Amino acid sequence: MRDQWSNKLGFLLAAIGSAVGLGNIWRFPYVAATNGGGAFLVPYFFAIITAGIPILILEYTMGKTYRGGAPVTWARMNRRFEWLGWVQSMIAFVIGIYYFAIIVWVVSYIGFSFTQAWGDDPSAFFAEYLGLTDSALELGGIQTHLLLPFFAIWAITAFIMYKGISRGIETVCKICLPILLVLTLILVIRGITLPGAVDGLNYLFTPNWEALKDPSVWVAAYGQIFYSLSLAFAIMLAYSSYLPRETDVVNSAFITATANHGYELFAGIGVFSIMGYMALSQGVAVEDVAQQGIGLAFMTFPTAISTLPALNALFGVCFFGTLFTAGLTSLVSILQAVISGFHDKFNIDHKKAVTIVLVPAFVVSFLFITGAGLNILDIVDAFINNVGLVASGVLEVILAGWFFNLEKLRQEANRFSNFSIGRWWCYTLKVVTVLMLGVMIILNLITYITEGYGGYVLKDLAVFGWGSIIFLAVAAAILTAMKGKDGYRNLDKLAQKEVEQ
Ligand code: ALA
Repeated sequence: MRDQWSNKLGFLLAAIGSAVGLGNIWRFPYVAATNGGGAFLVPYFFAIITAGIPILILEYTMGKTYRGGAPVTWARMNRRFEWLGWVQSMIAFVIGIYYFAIIVWVVSYIGFSFTQAWGDDPSAFFAEYLGLTDSALELGGIQTHLLLPFFAIWAITAFIMYKGISRGIETVCKICLPILLVLTLILVIRGITLPGAVDGLNYLFTPNWEALKDPSVWVAAYGQIFYSLSLAFAIMLAYSSYLPRETDVVNSAFITATANHGYELFAGIGVFSIMGYMALSQGVAVEDVAQQGIGLAFMTFPTAISTLPALNALFGVCFFGTLFTAGLTSLVSILQAVISGFHDKFNIDHKKAVTIVLVPAFVVSFLFITGAGLNILDIVDAFINNVGLVASGVLEVILAGWFFNLEKLRQEANRFSNFSIGRWWCYTLKVVTVLMLGVMIILNLITYITEGYGGYVLKDLAVFGWGSIIFLAVAAAILTAMKGKDGYRNLDKLAQKEVEQ
């Protein structure tokens, strides 16, 4: 028996929990600020309308109609599409492993917040905490002081995953999302009441209309939407496969996107208010303190926390608490995407599928608690997102749009929806989205091939960057070639009848 969400709310909370993640908190504000500020909202909303919501509707419709993890769903649409489902599942597998590592660091920093253990120099402290080596290939051994949070988070994650869809994932989202909202509210209120907040917000929102002439700004908007809505990495396909077929997916997609992007904008206000305050207290410009990703979380924010006039510990716990709650609900979705893939193709029981995915993930994750962890993570993250994920997105719209009857999926989406989607949906996916993502992958590939990434030496990029991309292709080819349960490519008779009706 396949598990199911207990109701539509349970599904929506899980989908929102997946979408709202580290990407919303530490990626969006910086991407917006450096790509036209307030003017970025134009390509941003354009990308939500032309890619975010249409692809979300596509994935929800595919998942609930063909009822399988990504490989089985694709295989049921056309047996020659299965490999893409495995590429997407393997992207989730890789992202899941380093997402996990970040949560381990975040948990340590919740502890450090109580005493602001990072002292006067958070950057040096962070490097020391990680035992940071000079390059991605210089492992420098396992950092034993990281083992405690490492095992603790693995235990929590495994517990949730073994519990399954309704009892595990749904429950953790019901607990984490309200906490996340309260913590974010505290951050934003504290942020906007600080001196200098307005400079930060001006930096984030002042429109630079000239920027809109630059194609890379539009590409950045698409990249942000993809990662933020958890698109094209098997998650939303898997999640919607646990829905009853009569679910209204069009409104579910609008609700998920509105909640995700609403949260993103709201968190952005908090993050940039605090950067404005920090810039003011250090007497520098906001762009000099603005950072994203790891730098923002583990260097900039600790500095900001120490600079606050009062309640520093509380504020630190709130900030790292938001990263923890947002990150955990995304991590479980990323892992579930892979688990559903194995479960459905090989018809194994849920616990066995969880073990098959978590054991190798556990073993590989040790890499990230070595001294090279941060450098490896930086490279893998860049290549998997900017090459793997974008390629997966463009292939998804090409296969579904050009080599499958998209009109059939549109009718299927509309069958149970109050708000019908028009033909614009098909044209948008087939033309606009393919074009935008196509340009994006070409630009990204040219940059990586000609300039490399992040100043890393070629050897490091070859092993961890291009190596990850090769891993996706090889693993997908092997898993596609493996024999699945008999007839897994066909829906069972009853479901098949429903689809044809
Ligand atoms: N959607 C998740 C995030 O934004 C993966 O982090």
